Amino acid sequence: MPAYAILGAQWGDEGKGKIIDYLSQRANIVARFSGGNNAGHTVINDMGDFSLHLVPCGVFSKSVTNVIGNGVVVDPDVLIEEMQALEKAGIDISQSLMVSERAHLIMPYHVMLDTLAENRRGKQAIGTTGKGIGPAYSDKTLRTGIRAADILDLENLKVRLESVLPYTNAILEKIYAVEPVTTESILEKAADWKNRLGSYIKPVGRYVNDVLDDDGTVVLEGAQGILLDLDHGTYPFVTSSSPTIGGAITGLAIQPRHITSVLGIFKAYNTRVGSGPFPTELFDDVGESIRTVAREFGTTTGRPRRIGWFDGVLARYSNRVNGYTSAVVTRLDVLDHIDSIKVCVGYKLGTDILDEPPGGVAALEKCSPIYETLEGWDIPTAGISDLSNLPTNARVYIDRLENLIGCPIDIISTGPHRDQTIMVKDILTP
Ligand code: GDP
Ligand code: IMO
Ligand code: MG
Repeated sequence: MPAYAILGAQWGDEGKGKIIDYLSQRANIVARFSGGNNAGHTVINDMGDFSLHLVPCGVFSKSVTNVIGNGVVVDPDVLIEEMQALEKAGIDISQSLMVSERAHLIMPYHVMLDTLAENRRGKQAIGTTGKGIGPAYSDKTLRTGIRAADILDLENLKVRLESVLPYTNAILEKIYAVEPVTTESILEKAADWKNRLGSYIKPVGRYVNDVLDDDGTVVLEGAQGILLDLDHGTYPFVTSSSPTIGGAITGLAIQPRHITSVLGIFKAYNTRVGSGPFPTELFDDVGESIRTVAREFGTTTGRPRRIGWFDGVLARYSNRVNGYTSAVVTRLDVLDHIDSIKVCVGYKLGTDILDEPPGGVAALEKCSPIYETLEGWDIPTAGISDLSNLPTNARVYIDRLENLIGCPIDIISTGPHRDQTIMVKDILTP
């Protein structure tokens, strides 16, 4: 004990990277448990500006072991590239990285299939990141996936590929009319991956639990957010994994009793990348000004993020599913320039008033938000690190969000840097 789960509480990009980097200064392990390089986690600290996709955000803190858990899908080429980029920036992770032998690999054909499937969906496209995430998780559930341990034994991998590739190739050729992939081409790549990554592939489940049993501190690094969860998100406009608390347990094989804190990371407003319902979405100048001021463009794909007011219905739902012990609100400073701020406190669906989102995407599309309007604040919050310096109206706004989410807001972030953080309560000290 203890393990701190850091979970995206909206549609991803809430600022998890910043908070994980901040908390990892006092951790022994930082461990990713779901998703893959669809994630883009920004960290800005004294070492520079970084955008991490696969490598956990603990790499900037000395004596942290960085673990990629079994629930993650790993594109080996992306991992190699990211390690090289970090090394160039003077951050050597050769002694501090571990990849679960059970993690599934994103193969070149998964990346091809992701784009082919999206093109085929036409107007119904999900707006995926095109990184092969869905096809890799599909193979995992079909039991035709290739795992990290498989590249350690190339003889066995050949046998495995000869069994799984005919099915994949039938899809490539018969459905998409593209060239099939050969066993040899994959084996050639796998030999290179084995050379470069072989020494990092380990039985991490046991290691993480041993550290927890010895009273070590583990930060569980969530990717994406609850509203992109395969079960609890706005299906089918979701990712293919479980960024929720259940995913943290299965994606690392840690015992639930070790999880002492569950932190829900919320932006002070809402954003979304890709398609799907977004009840509080803004299509006016206010939305545009937030996008511009906050540079709301995807960390992984560069796409403009859709912007909307804070959605209290989805926030309460998020807390119900994940059971946060603390909420974290980021990007409060982005609202500094806005005179009148709306928050959604309920939905209207026909003649019904809802306090929980409907499960069906068609019904959610029809929900119209019920807004409350709060006054903006006259003094900028950007960079404030002491709660007592927060302007009164910003406190009123935070109190309203706390009430809507239904759990205490223990951290407020007022800028992208480590020190632009208000610790309302020191959650790392029991
Ligand atoms: P993640 O995927 O949840 O890690 O979030 P991203 O890194 O994709 O996007 C969050 C963006 O917000 C990044 O550009 C961060 O540098 C930035 N950020 C985080 N916290 C704050 C904050 O409190 N204020 C401002 N202005 N930017 C922040
Ligand atoms: P982080 O960890 C925001 C979105 C994509 C798309 C949907 C499915 O940085 O918060 P996928 O490629 O996963 O099959 O795409 O999920 N998406 C994210 N949106 N932040 C992320 O990660 C995301 N990861 C996936 O835009 O709508
Ligand atoms: Mg991101």
